[in-house]
Amino acid sequence: MKQLKISLVAILVLVGSFARADEGMWFLMFLDRLNHRDMQKMGLQLTAEEIYSINNHSLKDAIVQFNGGCTAEVISKDGLLLTNHHCGYDAIAELSTPEHNYLKNGYWAASRKEELKPKSLYVRFFVRMDDVSKRILSKVNSGMTEADREKAINAEIAVIEKENNEGGKYTVSVRSFFQGNEFYYFVYQDYKDVRLVGTPPESVGKYGGDTDNWEWPRHTGDFSMFRVYADANGNPAEYSTSNVPLHPKYHLTVNLKGVQENDFAMILGYPGRTNRWMPAGGIEQNVKFAYPAWVEGSKTGMDQMKKYMDQSEAVNLIYASKYAGVANYWKNRQGMIDALTKFQTAKSKSEQEAKFNKWANKAENKVKYGNVVATINNYYKLTNEKSRHDNYLQQLLRTSAYGTISRTLGKQLSAYAAANTEERSKMRPDLEAGIKSFFEELYLPAEKDILKAQLALYATKSVGYDIAPSVKKIGGDYEKYVNSLFTLSLFASEEKMMAFLDLPSEGMITNDPIYALSNDLIAHLGSKSDEIAKAQNDFQASFRLLVEGLRESNLAPIKYPDANSTLRLTYGKVRSLPADKRNDAKVNFYTTMDGLVKKYKAGDDEFDLPARMLEMHKNKDYGQYADKKGYMPVCFLTDNDITGGNSGSPVLNGKGELIGLAFDGNIEAMAGDVIFDNKLQRTINVDIRYVLWLIDKFSGASHIVNEMDIVK
Ligand code: ARG
Repeated sequence: MKQLKISLVAILVLVGSFARADEGMWFLMFLDRLNHRDMQKMGLQLTAEEIYSINNHSLKDAIVQFNGGCTAEVISKDGLLLTNHHCGYDAIAELSTPEHNYLKNGYWAASRKEELKPKSLYVRFFVRMDDVSKRILSKVNSGMTEADREKAINAEIAVIEKENNEGGKYTVSVRSFFQGNEFYYFVYQDYKDVRLVGTPPESVGKYGGDTDNWEWPRHTGDFSMFRVYADANGNPAEYSTSNVPLHPKYHLTVNLKGVQENDFAMILGYPGRTNRWMPAGGIEQNVKFAYPAWVEGSKTGMDQMKKYMDQSEAVNLIYASKYAGVANYWKNRQGMIDALTKFQTAKSKSEQEAKFNKWANKAENKVKYGNVVATINNYYKLTNEKSRHDNYLQQLLRTSAYGTISRTLGKQLSAYAAANTEERSKMRPDLEAGIKSFFEELYLPAEKDILKAQLALYATKSVGYDIAPSVKKIGGDYEKYVNSLFTLSLFASEEKMMAFLDLPSEGMITNDPIYALSNDLIAHLGSKSDEIAKAQNDFQASFRLLVEGLRESNLAPIKYPDANSTLRLTYGKVRSLPADKRNDAKVNFYTTMDGLVKKYKAGDDEFDLPARMLEMHKNKDYGQYADKKGYMPVCFLTDNDITGGNSGSPVLNGKGELIGLAFDGNIEAMAGDVIFDNKLQRTINVDIRYVLWLIDKFSGASHIVNEMDIVK
């Protein structure tokens, strides 16, 4: 570590801004003004207009948000989509059965007819955006309570949405930035007929599992492919066999020339959430109260799921996606605790706040900003214990299928019971389908154990804050309590629920013990004392002022807004990390198939590989996909600024051609969501040459590669 520091300092001194990692998740509409010159210097050959244009087709037309949480890109004139394996994971698992196990064995549609439609999957194209800050902020004043402020803002947002949705053709979303100091609207078009084209086997697509997740050196073939379908006119349409592949406005060209250290690299995508303005008190709260509870709660749910997943392939397919999602943030949150502690992030933030506080208490600033820091600190102090409590409860609700049932099926069943005969017959088909799929997506013995373990954990560990009344009443024997819930409750069996549809009664729902428990847990999570409600109101106003004041005083160097699932661009370079003896590559910015095979462990949960892969590696059967230097590339690093939600984003060279697919970040820089680390923060990408090798050579789906525009 010490040596690393010395060499990095030396590099920084020698090459100045050269070695700077590239912080910033930039808005496309401001590229020209804020970034373009810098990008050109680094190697961009496109104009800003070629990346984002309202009137002409541009790069942005090839980037979609994938099913609300990931990113994907269009890579053929026939609507072929590339995203991560872990983004397609849920759909792949849903389409799999123990007999046709695409998750385990992979899948490639031999023709368009064989492309598979999951139950629900959509992609969102970005049309345009604009600034509406002045308009919205003219509706509020500093005398308003936060609730009144929100009401006024929402009213104006509704008007803006209506003005821009062109009679329902578009989805319009107005979002707040810089903690409520700016507002922009985004116009989108959603396509709902999206089908699976192909995927590598899980052993390749999730190679390394949770052991390698969030880590470098990495050898994961984290990609899967889908296709967008539309009606004959290219408009969004519900699934139909008469739909045709969408001919997009723009699609990416694939570049097989390979990457070199310091090559320009940019990423467009939908980063989910960063908190780069988070005050020191918030970081302390997360490190000491929220995240430890999150980690423990998620592991408790994971252990119960895993017990049953290991026993049967059918149960494994039911829980695989949920498990992976929970495990992903279980490791992430522990990584954040470690990184934030190690780098003393709270301390450096509180030093910044002390400077701010001095500025805020100058005569000319005092009225507006004088109390900001004190108010913020008071809020965190008051809510530390609640945040621990809330995290245990949230992990219970997240990992148990029954935790939230009062807001889903429970709510629908009680509406059904309250309805008249005619309304009921209209509601019934949907309800029957909902009940059926609820039971398809769970395994009762596992659910009982998840609930028992989570209730016990929540009740014993949420010290310092009152737990939900219904849990307090249990008195310790969770085994007995949960067994009796499942004996008595209507929600414990598909037959009972279907029978309820014939003889519905509202009382039966409200008196149902599982319904009542779920209701109580959710209500308790949402409830707060008057004291906390007041502190929260004041905190929200103060946090907004903190960000406003940090910008006004120039005390914060951050020039871009926090991620909030809106389209951003980040640019930087292909860049190595200090040498690492775990990586056999010559320079520590890429990995190779030799390194991949070195990790192979026959029969292992995480490091097994298909025999064909080992065979092809032995024969060096790499075709046109090998690097000029002879190795078969697998993954590489860039210093781009991404976070969860960017998964599946394209990595583009200076010409805007596809060179890789972003899929992860590195654990050393896990504090990145609250503070960007110039030295350590990296994006982990799968090399496009490995992706195409897997499709073409390994899987023999060369018709898919033939669809793409490729430069060699
Ligand atoms: N860390 C990756 C992300 O958040 C997800 C990787 C999924 N793999 C896994 N082993 N759970 O984008």
